[in-house]
Amino acid sequence: MKFFLDTANLDEIRDAASTGVLDGITTNPTLISKEANTFEDQLLKICSLVDGPVSAETVSRDAGGMIEEARHLAKLHRNIVVKCPMTKDGLKATKILSGERIRVNVTLVFSAPQAIMAAKAGAYFVSPFVGRLDDVGQSGMDLIRDIVTIFNNYEYKTEVLVASIRNPIHVVQAALMGADICTMPAKVFEQLFKHPLTDKGVEQFLKDWETVPVIK
Ligand code: E4P
Repeated sequence: MKFFLDTANLDEIRDAASTGVLDGITTNPTLISKEANTFEDQLLKICSLVDGPVSAETVSRDAGGMIEEARHLAKLHRNIVVKCPMTKDGLKATKILSGERIRVNVTLVFSAPQAIMAAKAGAYFVSPFVGRLDDVGQSGMDLIRDIVTIFNNYEYKTEVLVASIRNPIHVVQAALMGADICTMPAKVFEQLFKHPLTDKGVEQFLKDWETVPVIK
């Protein structure tokens, strides 16, 4: 399973990358708007910190505009994966861009039929948003199970990128279901390292170690 950080913040990315287990980054217009920099410059800085896919989202509503933006973004750096929204225009753009070997992450996916359409259009990643589904009383993880099963049934190459993750349980469930990638906020990434019994065990071992005689 690959772990992506869902952020455009360089400090968070630097910190997570230093662990050696960070595989990529996803951004969206909201995350980019929190950073005081131009879109392109921020993307280049992110790409210099992480040697893996970095998702950058288009903001046009029509396919033509998305294609133009995507070509521009893809030229910025080899790590860039372009995000197109799960709309009819987004899929028209995805089909054309994937034909040009530009990798597309189809985002804002909330149903299995949408995921199938994205895969058929040639998406490199499909991003179902589990947390936002949970927020409206639907099971985000049930959707992941359905998409993974369907993609396996038809051997679609599109990778399932579980997005809008809110806690480590989402990550574990996604792993059990065989999803390819989880993208998560820095807070959840940090939580994946932690267990109170680990902290307690380290404290105890270090305390006991102090009683071991030292050769001077
Ligand atoms: C994924 O690519 C999205 O940026 C993200 O996971 C959205 O998550 P949110 O629902 O926490 O905003």
